[in-house]
Amino acid sequence: MPVNVILGLQWGDEGKGKIVDYYSRDAELILRATGGNNAGHTVVIDKTTYKLHLVPSGLFENNKVGILGNGTVLDLAVLCKELNDLKQRNNGSVVFVSGKAHVIMPWHKHFDVSTETKSGDKKIGTTGRGIGPAYESKANRSTAIRIYDLTTKERFAKRVTEVFQLLKPRLQETAFDKSVESILSEMEPLRLQIAPLVIDSVAFVQPFIEQNKLILVEGAQGALLDFDHGTFPFVTSSNPTIGGIFTGTGVSHKHVKQVIGVTKAYCTRVGAGPFPTKLVDADGEYLQVNGNEFGTTTGRKRDCGWIDLVALRYACQLNGVTEIALTKLDVLSGLKTIKAAVAYKLPNGETTSVFPEDTTVLSSVEPIYRDFPGWSEKLEPNFEMLPNNAKEFIRTIEKYTSTPITLISTGPERKQTITR
Ligand code: IMP
Repeated sequence: MPVNVILGLQWGDEGKGKIVDYYSRDAELILRATGGNNAGHTVVIDKTTYKLHLVPSGLFENNKVGILGNGTVLDLAVLCKELNDLKQRNNGSVVFVSGKAHVIMPWHKHFDVSTETKSGDKKIGTTGRGIGPAYESKANRSTAIRIYDLTTKERFAKRVTEVFQLLKPRLQETAFDKSVESILSEMEPLRLQIAPLVIDSVAFVQPFIEQNKLILVEGAQGALLDFDHGTFPFVTSSNPTIGGIFTGTGVSHKHVKQVIGVTKAYCTRVGAGPFPTKLVDADGEYLQVNGNEFGTTTGRKRDCGWIDLVALRYACQLNGVTEIALTKLDVLSGLKTIKAAVAYKLPNGETTSVFPEDTTVLSSVEPIYRDFPGWSEKLEPNFEMLPNNAKEFIRTIEKYTSTPITLISTGPERKQTITR
């Protein structure tokens, strides 16, 4: 049995939670590879809404095993709360944590918020969860604290004290008001809860592979927020694209069968940065309200716009997407005309269908749209029964991205899912 990967193809918030839950039924192991509690994954089961930030979305079925991979950065308080919620569900599903994952310390959150992560004078508009500063520590190594450091009280105290000493000038300069002692005592119950869950995740995964068990890897954020390939500097600090899946879990590429890319039927973005198809009119308002487009993590209102097939094709190429899961098709119902960007007009007047990787250029493109007549009929749970206009819209996305759409979501519930 293979490894299947589920990735976001836009700026995050594509509805990956529901898709992971859907595919998790056949899987035994579900891994998170990158990011931290900047992610917010929503799963709706029988009218109950679950919001997850760290624990994989695929653990609602019985007896699943979840792993937070080495590529993640973990806020222990958030993790412990989600582990307690999982325990309450009492369905036999469990979570383990890679010892090579990194810890988000209170000062990481403080740096993210107090100094506002910026590029020049421009704010990135981060989630304020300490993600960038935690990855910064990982990259500089000297101020990094790994999950392995939680294994004994003494080891953790020694490491936290060392790092605190190193960071002292920056902590003083930014008026960080906690002492090492208070941090250690606040974190001790969290350390005690996490320590027994620490694993060597690369070794842990091997028997699942050898025994042909289906493994799912749950992506966080989306391709356009990728640290390398996204709209830099308005990106997150990890790689939500396919490469991050391998470095963030240690699972080998050779086992991957399906790369399922998730996209909304329109686009949204939170935080700063270019968004060529953004709407500031009644249609944008319609998508925002009808799609309930508020951030799961920060509650911020998401900007909304038309689907961008230039960006989507780029994300499919980048990730080697084998099939697309199209979400929130129902949100478009009722619009008279629906648009999809099929090319960009560049500042020099030329037209391109290639996604400009220079963010400055991307900020000044003008989308060229194809119009589709809308539909108002109810969306039946069967592709052939969808309104012809919806089918035409779906087929155009497939044509433009050269990728089949094998799953269509028409609402938050599990049963509002069409497979082809
Ligand atoms: P950070 O990941 O908190 O550093 O935020 C960097 C950028 O990524 C900001 O624009 C955030 O709004 C955005 N971002 C991070 N995580 C998510 C997510 O899960 N969904 C949507 N946007 C996100």
